Amino acid sequence: MEPMKREILFTKEVIEKKVWELAETISRDYQGGELIVIGVLKGAFVFMADLIRSLSISCLIDFVKLASYGAGSVSSGKVMMTKDIEISMEGKDVLIVEDIVDTGLTLSFLVNLFRERNPRSVKVCALLDKRQRREVPFEADYVGFTIEDGFVVGYGIDFNEEFRYLPEIYIIENMTEERNTFIPFEEREDLDDLQRDVEQIRDQKFGEEGEEGNNEKETSRLWSPWKLTAYIVIAVLILSGVCLWFFPGIGEQAWERMSLSIPWIEKIRGTERQGEIFDQPRVQLKDIKQRFVNNLLLGNLRVIEGTAVNSSDFPIAGIRVRGRLYDAYTMVAGEQLSYCGNYLTDEELGFLTEDEIQEELSNPRGSDVSNNRITPHGQIPFMIVFCHWPGDVSKTTVTFAGAERLLE
Ligand code: IMP
Ligand code: MG
Repeated sequence: MEPMKREILFTKEVIEKKVWELAETISRDYQGGELIVIGVLKGAFVFMADLIRSLSISCLIDFVKLASYGAGSVSSGKVMMTKDIEISMEGKDVLIVEDIVDTGLTLSFLVNLFRERNPRSVKVCALLDKRQRREVPFEADYVGFTIEDGFVVGYGIDFNEEFRYLPEIYIIENMTEERNTFIPFEEREDLDDLQRDVEQIRDQKFGEEGEEGNNEKETSRLWSPWKLTAYIVIAVLILSGVCLWFFPGIGEQAWERMSLSIPWIEKIRGTERQGEIFDQPRVQLKDIKQRFVNNLLLGNLRVIEGTAVNSSDFPIAGIRVRGRLYDAYTMVAGEQLSYCGNYLTDEELGFLTEDEIQEELSNPRGSDVSNNRITPHGQIPFMIVFCHWPGDVSKTTVTFAGAERLLE
């Protein structure tokens, strides 16, 4: 026996293009009708699946399974239906989808059988047509490719149930007469050889492409939208952790910035803080004013004044207040801490140097009003002075920055 020869007859791309063309013609021809597409199992299932998904019209689908009795591939011409359709075709347009028209016996039988069931029309679409091998006159209405004699496998078409999974169509030459005979498993060395050969052809032909394809799949598996989101979230969490570790102050600033734009954040923080510092000094700031005073050396000074009220029910000392300037991006652009009980007259503000001003305001005991003991509800004035600030100050804030509780 001569060795079997096999090679690719139609690639995936060629088949795909042909299926599209067929689908386009079929969609046009059946426009407005009621179409039932009936596939002949098993050979036609892949072709039919692609075909119906390329149609631009709606259709019902069903399948038949046929068996021809008689030994080997030489059909006896007696065809038997082993699975019938399950939907009615009366008055409908029937399109039979078959993988190959060979002798024509199978399809002649099927078309005749269906015609007796009073459909509106019966037509046949076959992917492959081996015209030369006809034993009965038969013409398919839609044909993908006309081929010479030769045994083909792949794209749903089998050799002893093998090779249906191949996306391409392969031709196997020098097939013996027993091509459609079932070969017992123990005698299937030839088949195994064939299997190996087909795999080899695929590897040679599609190896690189396949690898690329796999890489693509790998990449897409690695970068699916969910995974990407998860990676970003993890990266942000790690980065924030690192930032907080090295610059702990950033956390506090971030909270404050957030609470500037989202008020309820401050509420959450507020309750948290209250819990945290329960029984800690509480101070309210009132009568806060901001004005500008000209200084001989420094130009305009930004002066914030107000009164701190002890709202704790115990005496406190060393009350401090903090002034903050925010830039256009609500980043802290300047910060000054002052102890209450220190203030400067406009005259002093007019000629003192920056260091002198800040020194004056940072006396914990209070150089003008004593900051040593403020009783509950007691008041004390404060002053915060900014000598410099950026051009784009968007906000100025004053907050209570701490005090000591005095034990009675
Ligand atoms: P026929 O037209 O009645 O001879 O039968 C056609 C059927 O024979 C197809 O549906 C296939 O199942 C099978 N057949 C014919 N040629 C081939 C082939 O080259 N490969 C696999 N099956 C084939
Ligand atoms: Mg078949």
